[in-house]
Amino acid sequence: LKGKFEKLELLNNEAEIGGGQERIEKQHAAGKKTARERIEELLDPGTFNEIDKFVLHRATDFGIDKKKFRGDGVVSGYGKIHDRLVYVFAQDFTVFGGTMSRSNADKIVKIQKMAIENGAPLIGLNDSGGARIQEGVQSLAGYADIFYNNVLSSGVIPQISTILGPCAGGAVYSPALTDFIFMVNETSHMFVTGPDVIKTVTHENVSKEDLGGAVTHTSKSGVAHFSGDNEEQTLMMVRELVSFIPSNNMEEPPIQTTTDPIDRKIDALHDVVPADPNKAYDMKDIILKIIDDEHFLEVQPNYAANIVIGFARFGGKSVGIVANQPAVLAGVLDINSSAKAARFVRFCDAFNIPLVTLVDVPGFLPGTQQEFGGIIKHGAKLLYAFAEATVPKITLITRKAYGGAYDVMSSKHIGGDINYAFPTAEIAVMGPEGAINILNRDITDEAEKAKAVEEYRDAFANPYRAASLGYVDEIIYPEDTRIKIINALEMTHNKRKSNLPRKHGNIPL
Ligand code: COA
Repeated sequence: LKGKFEKLELLNNEAEIGGGQERIEKQHAAGKKTARERIEELLDPGTFNEIDKFVLHRATDFGIDKKKFRGDGVVSGYGKIHDRLVYVFAQDFTVFGGTMSRSNADKIVKIQKMAIENGAPLIGLNDSGGARIQEGVQSLAGYADIFYNNVLSSGVIPQISTILGPCAGGAVYSPALTDFIFMVNETSHMFVTGPDVIKTVTHENVSKEDLGGAVTHTSKSGVAHFSGDNEEQTLMMVRELVSFIPSNNMEEPPIQTTTDPIDRKIDALHDVVPADPNKAYDMKDIILKIIDDEHFLEVQPNYAANIVIGFARFGGKSVGIVANQPAVLAGVLDINSSAKAARFVRFCDAFNIPLVTLVDVPGFLPGTQQEFGGIIKHGAKLLYAFAEATVPKITLITRKAYGGAYDVMSSKHIGGDINYAFPTAEIAVMGPEGAINILNRDITDEAEKAKAVEEYRDAFANPYRAASLGYVDEIIYPEDTRIKIINALEMTHNKRKSNLPRKHGNIPL
């Protein structure tokens, strides 16, 4: 009997050493942790259950059959984050560079299926040289199986990707299909084609970091949602994200107890919106003051910063916040901000997370760049996303709500449940100066023009016209914002609404 246990211990040790001590040291020297160290870091201590630890690759070409490592290039299984079940796989760079073999793909697909069936998030820790060259189309087939399950999981369980090393070629498309991508500054890279191929094809010189580093993808391309300075910080951010979201689309988001009073008045908000409509202010000041404990997990803070999105709680309950940011480009909607917010709205709607929308929007960004880039279809994404969302939708107009952008930003007309406005709100087709330039084109006298602008301002640049038509439910005092939003969230807690059955809608892409 002793021999049997010894054999198990031997195999366990073999699997746990991955590609061997030398490669582990190389991994550490590169500022990276091993797959197992990462899983330990991510999960609650002692909760990891490994699956398929002894799986071997089955390839034979190029002499690879003489080189096998227990578990092959991925460590997979399940465990807990904040005492809630999650599934996790971590590519092991010490085994053939964490490359995708048929066996690795089978291991990942196995836990993807478990995650869907048991309704828990799937977290991927990516660090891989891509398709395992020796396995050819078997490796590509493996990727496709993973992609397929990523798509079937979308909107059913949260899927989170963490990029902790290289992620290139076809490999990028699994993370791209998931809900959130995390990267690490300097050590993680994502690109479809690397710097060498780019140089050959387009003669461009670009470094790995500039092409596909964390800064690029969190500020320029918008591919990634979060970045950390190191692996520990990044994995802690994954844990934080998980704390806000439900385990699957049939669950409510978890509730976190808070000592922040639900009836907290906020006097500092009284004059937060400047009297001068052309003056900027930071919408994040309002967000931080109204939410529980000033705890805001902002998503994509450095990308399309003219719109702010992220998770927060009111009275312990998670919400998704979407807010125009007057401090950046006057809070205008453009291609990137529309697409950024639309995807977030759809995530929240898929996972029963109520939406709180703060509006101060002067309209859509004018210009050929925007029109040629398709602002019409990209702006339509946000309109579509808000309109189809059936979760509770609470909207507050703090200042400007002009033109089509007024309609888009979770207006009453597209299903807002409770629509508030501050007394400083201006709800109109456009701003006073622009309107008078069109209406009274022929007035040349400056004083007369100013008078017309003032008349327009009195008539339209306020929330009372909209309130008289029932398009705004209540004009609130800024200091009551938190109380009012919590009241609306409580009122809509049991909201039951579904759209007509259909195969799927056709969101403008
Ligand atoms: N298939 C099979 N093995 C691969 C591989 C691949 N696609 N990519 C890397 N490896 C192996 C290497 O042979 C090496 O094996 P060893 O430990 O037995 O020596 C190990 O993985 C680590 O790779 P190495 O090149 O030493 O690491 P690095 O940190 O210097 O570079 C990469 C990492 C990913 C940038 C580099 O390996 C690379 O460019 N790989 C090819 C990527 C690619 O084109 N993939 C196919 C497209 S999907």
